Amino acid sequence: MLPVQRLLALLILAQCAITASLSPRVVHESRSSLPTGWTPARRADPATRLPLRIGLAQSNLDNLDAYVLDVSHPESPNYGKHWTPAQVAQAFRPSRDAVDAVREWLMEEGMPPEGVKVHTGGGWVQVDVTVEEAERLLSTEYYVYQFGDGEGRSSEHVACKEKYHLPEHVSKHVELVVPTLHFDVHVKRERVAEKRSGSKNMGQSRSGIVNPKFIGEIETALTELADCDKQITPDCLRALYDFVYLPVATDRNTIGIVEYTPEAYLDQDMDWFFGNYSPSQVGQRPALVSIDGGYDQTLFQGFSVNGEADLDLQYAMALVGATQNVTLYQAGDLYEGASFNNFLDALDGSYCTYEGGDNPEYDSVYPDPYGGYTGKENCGTAPLSNIISTSYGATEASYGAAYTQRQCAEYGKLGLMGVTILYSSGDTGVAGNGLCLNADGTESSSGTRFDPGFPGSCPYVTSVGATQIQAGSTVWDPETACGQYIYSGGGFSNVFSTPAWQASAVDDYLAKYPPPYASDVFNASGRGYPDISANGLNYSVVVDGTLQLVAGTSCSSPVAAAILSAVNDARLAIGKSTIGFINPTIYTPPFMAAFNDITTGNNPGCGTDGFAAAPGWDPVTGLGTPNFPKLLALWLALP
Ligand SMILES: *[C@@H]1O[C@H](CO)[C@@H](O)[C@H](O)[C@H]1NC(C)=O
Ligand SMILES: *[C@@H]1O[C@H](CO)[C@@H](O)[C@H](O)[C@H]1NC(C)=O
Ligand SMILES: *[C@@H]1O[C@H](CO)[C@@H](O)[C@H](O)[C@H]1NC(C)=O
Repeated sequence: MLPVQRLLALLILAQCAITASLSPRVVHESRSSLPTGWTPARRADPATRLPLRIGLAQSNLDNLDAYVLDVSHPESPNYGKHWTPAQVAQAFRPSRDAVDAVREWLMEEGMPPEGVKVHTGGGWVQVDVTVEEAERLLSTEYYVYQFGDGEGRSSEHVACKEKYHLPEHVSKHVELVVPTLHFDVHVKRERVAEKRSGSKNMGQSRSGIVNPKFIGEIETALTELADCDKQITPDCLRALYDFVYLPVATDRNTIGIVEYTPEAYLDQDMDWFFGNYSPSQVGQRPALVSIDGGYDQTLFQGFSVNGEADLDLQYAMALVGATQNVTLYQAGDLYEGASFNNFLDALDGSYCTYEGGDNPEYDSVYPDPYGGYTGKENCGTAPLSNIISTSYGATEASYGAAYTQRQCAEYGKLGLMGVTILYSSGDTGVAGNGLCLNADGTESSSGTRFDPGFPGSCPYVTSVGATQIQAGSTVWDPETACGQYIYSGGGFSNVFSTPAWQASAVDDYLAKYPPPYASDVFNASGRGYPDISANGLNYSVVVDGTLQLVAGTSCSSPVAAAILSAVNDARLAIGKSTIGFINPTIYTPPFMAAFNDITTGNNPGCGTDGFAAAPGWDPVTGLGTPNFPKLLALWLALP
């Protein structure tokens, strides 16, 4: 070796030493407990080979809000100039810097350059290492964990203990490294599900709690507007929200409803409902978009697997009318089901291929290792709809901040593409999915802090709460917050701060109607939800061949979607854009005045009365229910 080369080599080594010492190792991810049923069995054999995959962080996410507002704020010169999927993919793809930082670090650590592979799309870097090398790279210890269900079934999984580290300058470019802390919990889930229901109900939705509340069977269908307090029908909703509209741009307009298998509608339920309330639609069905093997299963039937889908589709389809097709996104197979992320992966290939993301603790992995759907995970294959309504929900606390933030950003990207995302706000008031928070942030039924729902707490989602007609009142009287059978989910996020477009509405509420709670009960600086509301009590729905009464924000979301879809139709018909992400628009004073303000009722939970509805925005009914003609006129006047 020539001295010059030797010198260069020394310099390079010195350089590495400097980089390494300048960049201390930081904890990149940690977990406080193991998933139930798993115990450490032994240290992993140091010679075992691991395919280490490093998921890179998306770039530019700190600009997301500015990009979204630029096309969604009614005063922006670029209002309505939504981005194409390709523009979105390009703007957020992991940066060259991220790829370089990870690659250089691996080489400094002695990995052979030819062993370090960057995958197409640039979302992740892979290197095959031994357990010993992985322990050194990540300053962690790998164990073999064992799962046993006490019935002779067991499984093993290699994972690291408690936490792993990355150099600080690498950590900021990385979303996560696998295999590390994450458990592929399919074994556990499947076995537990089988055990619980005696192998009968293998299907399970992974996306939060489903199901409207079952109230009772209906003996006589009431069809007079005077009876809308007792039974809600499509005509009641048209009268309540002055919603009369004949679509004219059905060749361009789209609206989608999301269902998670095993939830499924039944053909005969649709036809009976249409026969009662919208005869011209008998025989009509939603257009199925299957995601990860999703289909309308009929193996399992009952209110818990048909109630939600029947409700959502019967009302969305009846309200948009016979000429507007409704897309049904049916997500997940019968074994694993699907999560919100599985659905989002199917809508947006750039979210899917960016490998940092899905967490097998919450998200299903396809092909399904247990049979069911053996195809590849759907990735960017599902067409977007202009409005997408989902009546499923979970809580922020059940996922954790990093997971909710990543998913929320994806809702923002859909807004950037002109899609309106609606989620029901939840049916248990301030107690998200019926639980409350303890001081340490865990959920329990004895917690005393309000437990925000998710995805409704994500600012890029339009969260829909529930109202009701007061007993003995009519469709022409003011509604109140739903106070029978269910309470409208609402409150303030612990993860997302109050967005600028909402700040004055929230400040007004907190100043004029200060909730009587200590500061640790709810987070006054969080994003307030819901944004809007619609009737959610005593809907007449056909489920499993019987006419039933149901309640819930599950009713409210598809109804709001159908009304907003008519606004899209009218705008598309005159060559304007879709309404896209509506929140910055609806919190402006003219739009606020175009909602029927709900000023009575509340949303109890966690041993309290919850929040009180009040004039203006409130964390029970949002801005109120839609006044369709007023909203339509305002939206038609926007560019
Ligand atoms: C609605 O869906 C049906 C069946 O898929 C299709 O034949 C029809 O062309 C669609 N209508 C519009 C307006 O897209
Ligand atoms: C909703 O239906 C239930 C069951 O029939 C009934 O008891 C209740 O009074 C109804 N609610 C209103 C507001 O009429
Ligand atoms: C309150 O919300 C903010 C976001 O605005 C968050 O950073 C903070 O941690 C939350 N506080 C609590 C106690 O959850």
